[in-house]
Amino acid sequence: MIVLGIDTSCDDTSVAVYDAKENRILSNIVSSQYEFHIPFGGVVPEIAARKHAENIDVVFEEALKVAGVEVKDLELITVTRFPGLLPALLVGLTFGKGISYCSGLPFKGVHHIEAHLLSPFIGKEPEYPFLGLVVSGGHTLLVLAGGLGRYRVVGKTLDDAVGEAYDKVAKMLNLGYPGGPVIDRIYREFKGDYLQLPKPKVKGLNYSFSGIKTAVKRLVEKGYPKEQIAASFQKTAVEYLVGKLKKALKEFGIRRIAVSGGVSANSLLREKLEELSEKGYEVLLPDLSYTSDNGAMVAYVGYRRFLLEGGDELTVGALPRLSL
Ligand code: KG4
Ligand code: ZN
Repeated sequence: MIVLGIDTSCDDTSVAVYDAKENRILSNIVSSQYEFHIPFGGVVPEIAARKHAENIDVVFEEALKVAGVEVKDLELITVTRFPGLLPALLVGLTFGKGISYCSGLPFKGVHHIEAHLLSPFIGKEPEYPFLGLVVSGGHTLLVLAGGLGRYRVVGKTLDDAVGEAYDKVAKMLNLGYPGGPVIDRIYREFKGDYLQLPKPKVKGLNYSFSGIKTAVKRLVEKGYPKEQIAASFQKTAVEYLVGKLKKALKEFGIRRIAVSGGVSANSLLREKLEELSEKGYEVLLPDLSYTSDNGAMVAYVGYRRFLLEGGDELTVGALPRLSL
């Protein structure tokens, strides 16, 4: 079965073609619009929707071309339906429904977090149970996955997502948007001493990043060097993420970990996960091209959900918020 996957949940317009029989992604085109959001230091929903509308047909055609398929070869249309920026989601959803309507192909709406959650398994079959850590610009979640669609959120952020904290810290330091890759690079080049930042004490497996952000603000006001603040922030944020991950592993006696989302590209996080794998844990990470938002993970999960429960009516809508 040849599956089309569309994601327009935030500021990336992405379309992918997936050969489900061969379990192979044939193309995964991502058109990022982040430069249009730079002056605002964050994603503006209205601008995101307009740029998706301008780009989606071009991205779609490119995805077909790279995959070497035509519209008539497609057999299933999958699109991110929730959660995300509502005006942005509606562009991809309407585009996907249009193709489905004209061609009579089945249509399946996909949960964006589920797509991230399973993205480390792209190219193979998901193996359960596993502990998922989804770390992106919009989400920070610890999820116990017992099977397809059988998820229990065991921890989450009570305020900012970790990627959001990265972006806000970068904004305070005038490092541009998105902040994650810049701060990660500064961390790698930094040679000095780290500054002390608090690791908020939140009950159980939940996270909170607003305290770290406020502490960063104070250091900026005190005039500490940008590089020292950025590097110290990364050290604290990643140690905090991994600390709770280890706590969850112990609590649930799980040996398989799947980490996903934009922040899973982080080099220090990958280093710490490597240490866990040396201790005998099975650690799965997405290919770097599947860490940020992409259509490949949507097609991969949409196909599996379609097999499990069938397609959706074309009357279904988008939702800005929906937990797993
Ligand atoms: O998954 P994603 O593309 O979008 C959402 O669904 O939110 O994640 C984007 C987030 C941004 O906040 C960005 O700063 C962060 O991922 N990010 C990183 C790195 N690369 C991207 N954070 C830390 N280290 C990185 N290397
Ligand atoms: Zn995402």
